[in-house]
Amino acid sequence: MNADALLQQLTCHELGRRLECQETLPSTNDRAREFLDLFGPAAHGAVVVADRQTAGRGRMGRSWYSQPGSSLSLSVALWPGGEPSGFGTIPLAAALAVREALKGCGVAAGLKWPNDVLVGGRKVAGVLLEGRFSGDEHRGMALGIGVNLAQKREEFPAEFRAGATSVLAETGVTPDAVAFAAALLNALEPLLERAQSDPAGLVASAATAWVHRLGEAMVLETGGGRLEGRFAGVGPEGELRLETPRGVMSLVSGEVVHVRPLEAP
Ligand code: BTN
Repeated sequence: MNADALLQQLTCHELGRRLECQETLPSTNDRAREFLDLFGPAAHGAVVVADRQTAGRGRMGRSWYSQPGSSLSLSVALWPGGEPSGFGTIPLAAALAVREALKGCGVAAGLKWPNDVLVGGRKVAGVLLEGRFSGDEHRGMALGIGVNLAQKREEFPAEFRAGATSVLAETGVTPDAVAFAAALLNALEPLLERAQSDPAGLVASAATAWVHRLGEAMVLETGGGRLEGRFAGVGPEGELRLETPRGVMSLVSGEVVHVRPLEAP
C-alpha cells in the first residue's frame, strides 16, 4: 500500500501520525510493538500496514492467514492514557470501525462476540489486541485488524472456506484497499476515544450490531474448557454475559463456537 495515498485520505488526527507501509512483515502487530518499545507513549497512533504477513496471528493462539494483495493487515500502536476499565472495549471499537468501513462498501456486517466481524455468518474480519503490562501499568498495546477484501471464495484455504468471506465475495466488486484502510482509521479514532471516555456508552451503541440474540443458546470455548448457556447480553466493559444453570457468568475472553437460534415460542 502506498503510504502517501493513504495519508491523503486520512481525516483523523492521532492515528497515522506515524505511518509505515511495508510489502512484507512477519506480523504488523510485532512491528507496532517495536514502535512501542522504541518510542513509548509517543508511539500512540502509529499505524503499520503490510501487503503480506508471513506469521500473522489470530486470537486464542491461532495463526491468521492473509492472502497477499487481497487482505488488509493493519496494526495501530496504542498508549492510552485513560482508565484501564476502558481497555476491554478497545477491540470492540475496532470491530465497529470495520463494520462502518464495510457499510461504505455496501456490506452489512454483524459482530460475533467478542470482536469477529461476520457477513451472513461468515467471518470477514478479525481483531487482535495485544497489551503489555508491568504490574497494573500498561506498556502499550498493539491493536491488529485483518480484513478480507478481495479473496474469491475458492481462494480461501480449504479449511476456512466454509466460514470465511470477503468484500469481493459479498459484492462482486474489488474494494480500493487504500480507501478502505482510510475509512477504517477515520472511523476508528472517535470510537477509540469513546472506548476510553465512555466504555459503557460504546457497548450500548453496539447493542444492535451483535449477531447474537438475547436468550440464544450458545457454547463457549474458554481457556478452562467449554461452557454452555444462553446469551444474556454484553456488559459495560465488553464482557459476555452467559446465563447458565448456576447463574449469570461474566466472561472477558473466549470463543463462541456454537449458537442455536431461539426456539419458537
Ligand atoms: C482473529 O480473528 O483471530 C484476529 C485476527 C487478527 C489479524 C490481524 S492482521 C493484522 C494484525 N497482525 C497480526 O499478526 N494479526 C492481526
